Amino acid sequence: MNEEVNFHNKLFKDKQYSLKPRNSAYAVVDNAFDYYRDQIIKSKPQFLLELACSTGLWCSYFSKLGIKVCAIDISFEAARLCSQRKQELNVIVGDIQSLPLDLNSFDCVIGSGIIHHLESNMLFDSLAKSNVQCSIFIEPLKHNPLINLYRFLTPNSRTKGETPLSMNQLNFVQSKFPSSTFRYFGFTSLILTPFVKIPLLNKLIKAFQIMDDFLLSKIPILQKYAWIVVMNVQKTPQECS
Ligand SMILES: C[S@@+](CC[C@H](N)C(=O)[O-])C[C@H]1O[C@@H](n2cnc3c(N)ncnc32)[C@H](O)[C@@H]1O
Repeated sequence: MNEEVNFHNKLFKDKQYSLKPRNSAYAVVDNAFDYYRDQIIKSKPQFLLELACSTGLWCSYFSKLGIKVCAIDISFEAARLCSQRKQELNVIVGDIQSLPLDLNSFDCVIGSGIIHHLESNMLFDSLAKSNVQCSIFIEPLKHNPLINLYRFLTPNSRTKGETPLSMNQLNFVQSKFPSSTFRYFGFTSLILTPFVKIPLLNKLIKAFQIMDDFLLSKIPILQKYAWIVVMNVQKTPQECS
């Protein structure tokens, strides 16, 4: 865990970086982030918990919509920058793997790029035991060879403990929360990542995203090779009580 804290404290000390919403390669999967946002809004949360809020892009966005938001991150540098964004945010420095919070205080839990930092499935066990009706996560998957080559060539861009999700982990979540749905992003669009800075590429990216949506929804065997999954982890009201 010290590695996570040190890596992210160092990263977020550079304020310039921390206020930049997304690394440009993510432009080819920006529809995944739109979908993640829309799923959260659709769930109509009143008390939202954001896990690994980092510098607070998401939690400040939802707070501006009038939702009561609590956010947690293990990095105190990230938490400091997050608190600076919006006074109303309740930001806690802490480890998700030993949550210093009662999950039952929230109706929705969200997280962007955090499950793959965790060492176990404990979070899903805690969610299953809680009254939280809906949890929404956006995470990278581990099976695409192109992405793995990129990860291999850029080891210093991430902590050693990071393990993108496997299909087995998704199956585990589905078995624990049978009403969950998963949607996949970034397949053919990945070939556009080196060119994202070229002006006017947006339309081409959109076309690739539409094609990916079609392929990844119609041909399930391709899903494991997607870059990103949005997990909408749902419980029925009966499962909550
Ligand atoms: C890839 S960043 C994602 C940040 C943010 N959610 C976003 O979408 O921009 C991972 C974040 O998880 C935090 N983190 C990693 N392990 C954690 C843990 N065990 N408990 C709480 N936060 C953690 C890091 O400090 C970092 O801010």
